[in-house]
Order: sequence, then structure tokens, then C-alpha cells
Amino acid sequence: MKGIILHGGHGTRLLPLTHTGPKQLLPIANKPMSQYALEDLRNVGIHDIAIVIGDIYPEKVKEYYSDGKQFGVNITYIYQEKPKGISHAIRLCKEFVGDDKFIVYLGDNVLRKSLTDYTKKFSSSGLDAMILLCEVDNPSKFGVAYIDKEDSMKIKSIIEKPKNPTSNLAVIGVYFLTPKIFDIIDDLKPSSRGELEITDALQLLMDKGNKITYDTVTGWWKDTGTPEDIIHANRLVLDSIGTDEQFLAEKDVSIKGNIIIGNNTDVSHGSSIIGPAIIGKNCKIGRNVRLGPYVSIGDNCTLENCNIENSIIMQNCKIDAKEVNLSSSIISHNSQIDGGTISKKSQLLLGERTHLKL
Ligand code: TTP
Repeated sequence: MKGIILHGGHGTRLLPLTHTGPKQLLPIANKPMSQYALEDLRNVGIHDIAIVIGDIYPEKVKEYYSDGKQFGVNITYIYQEKPKGISHAIRLCKEFVGDDKFIVYLGDNVLRKSLTDYTKKFSSSGLDAMILLCEVDNPSKFGVAYIDKEDSMKIKSIIEKPKNPTSNLAVIGVYFLTPKIFDIIDDLKPSSRGELEITDALQLLMDKGNKITYDTVTGWWKDTGTPEDIIHANRLVLDSIGTDEQFLAEKDVSIKGNIIIGNNTDVSHGSSIIGPAIIGKNCKIGRNVRLGPYVSIGDNCTLENCNIENSIIMQNCKIDAKEVNLSSSIISHNSQIDGGTISKKSQLLLGERTHLKL
């Protein structure tokens, strides 16, 4: 089997974070979100992976993943000039796929459970496609599947963002496919938003009598389209981290719960960290700092006089104002906050290289 990770798209709902890079490189618990997809594919033995890159700084994706060797896979890059839809992106991979079965993984989806069982089921089956469904509270935001009342394993229809959904089963962004899908996509017409939709391709695949089934996802699944989704995904991933026993033994710092701290990071006496939290390498956590719970701090950050919870601070950031209180915030790479005071817990969303002088 082969793997495809979609790394294009508009990323408009994540502005200003996506002004300087694709959303799939935004970190969740200090790891780009698309790396979770890549590792999930690799962990089921898929080593040939195509990454479809779009028009938002695609060179940053190539720079990070390179030829994939460092991650234990071989990567082929396929360029999608404009975000013309998920089906359009898949169609670009026809040559890469050849005659193999394949898994398409949207690079902004994060899944708790491994793909092992689903992959075994699909690879040993004669199925033309298999999708994964997850119960959600807000189905009108997703592609939704309707199951046949007489045959509970049969999907009756799949509708993209239905206005009045009567099913709460969202189609998640991991699709098990065969090369049959390429001819189907060739017959698709763009939707009202001008995209070749994956839901339309799956519906047409069914309409033409192909064999398609589903499995339901246990554990959590997160589609990280908005800043709130990213903060939530960060919480979900941090909930499963362990603790850096070595660090705890060496340092005299007030720590509760699970935390991971990178090499060469210094935490001053008197600071406190409430886990779960992750702090990268080469950081200076200085005076009067209270971190957590649910905080991810990237490499090379310097923090002083701040109280941060439920937030993501990316690499190379500096916060050293008089007093800064942050909650549910995302501060992008190379940003700086200094000067006066944010006395009430506030939510900031800062794009890369922002300098906020209080
Ligand atoms: P979406 O989140 O549906 O779309 P988007 O990335 O354009 O975001 P927004 O709505 O905020 O503008 O895309 C789902 C995934 O598919 C995401 O990982 C990006 C990827 N994608 C492509 O690779 N190519 C495309 O043409 C489209 C539409 C999406």
C-alpha cells in the first residue's frame, strides 16, 4: 500500500497563523500536525508516501520533511497549483499510486487510535473504498454519512456539510482507496464552492455500484481547521504524554502532573509548571513564570513574568513584559511580547514575527 498526505488548501480559517506557512506545519505538542499523519502511515508499514503541497510556502514542507529518510519513509512531492479540492489533489497522485491500494490522510487531521486494524481490514478485502466515521456534535460542519437502515454496514449516502443533518456521523479525513477512484474523479464536476469534493467522489463511487464500507473511530479524532481546534488538539495530545523523570530528579522546581522538558532547558527556582505540558530544548523559563496546564512551548523560548495556560507558544519566542496572563492563545514562531502588562487572562493569536509592545 501507498500513502498520500494532503498538505495544500487555503488555510483561511487559521489566519494570521497561515500567512507564513501551511497550516499542516503548525505544531501540536511541539510536532507539526502533518507529522502525526506521516507517523501513523509509517507505523502500519507504509513507506512510500506522496505529500501534496499547495501554494502556501510549499518549500517549508520540503525543508522539514526532505526526502523522508529521517522519518523512516520515502517521500515524493506532488505540487497542487491551486486548492481545487481534495479530489483534485488525489487525482494528481494517479501516477504515484500505480496499481496499489492507498490511504489518503488529510494533513490537518489528528487521530488517537493507530490505523493498524483498519489497514489490515482494507488490505485483505476486495473493497473499492473504506471510510472512517466519527460521531460529532456539529455534523453540519463536516461531510456526513447516512447508513442504510436495513443493512447497518452499508452507506446509503454521503453529503458535504448538510444544512439539516439527520445523522451525526462525520466522514473523517482518512480514506482507504483503490485506483478505481481516479476514473470517478475524472467524471466529477466542481461543487458550488468550486472544488472537486471527496464526498462527491465517494458518492459517485457508490452510485456506480462499487464496494464501499466504513468503520467507526474509537478514541478521539480532531480536524484542526480553526485556532480553537488546534488548542483542543494540543490538549488531547498532551493528555497522553508521560513524564521526564530525569529532569524532575535534577531540578528543584514546583511541578505537578506530566511534563516533558527538552535538553538544555533551564527552569528557574520559583517557577511552577502544571502538567500536562511540554517544553522544548534550549529554553529559559525565568522568574515568576507559571505554566500550565495544557501548554506547549517550542524550542529556544525565553519566558519571564508570565502565567500561561491552555496555549501554544512556538519556537524562538520571547515574553518578558512586567506581567502577561494568557489563556487559549497561539503565539507563532519568532514573536516577542515585552513592555507593560496584560493583567487579565487574555487570548492572543499572533502570526509569525509579531512584536507586541505593551
Ligand atoms: P479544508 O480544511 O477543508 O480546506 P482549507 O485548507 O482550504 O481551509 P480553509 O477552509 O480554512 O480555507 O482542507 C482539508 C484538508 O485538505 C487540509 O489538510 C488541506 C487539504 N487540501 C488540499 O491539500 N488541497 C485542496 O485543494 C483542499 C481544498 C484541501
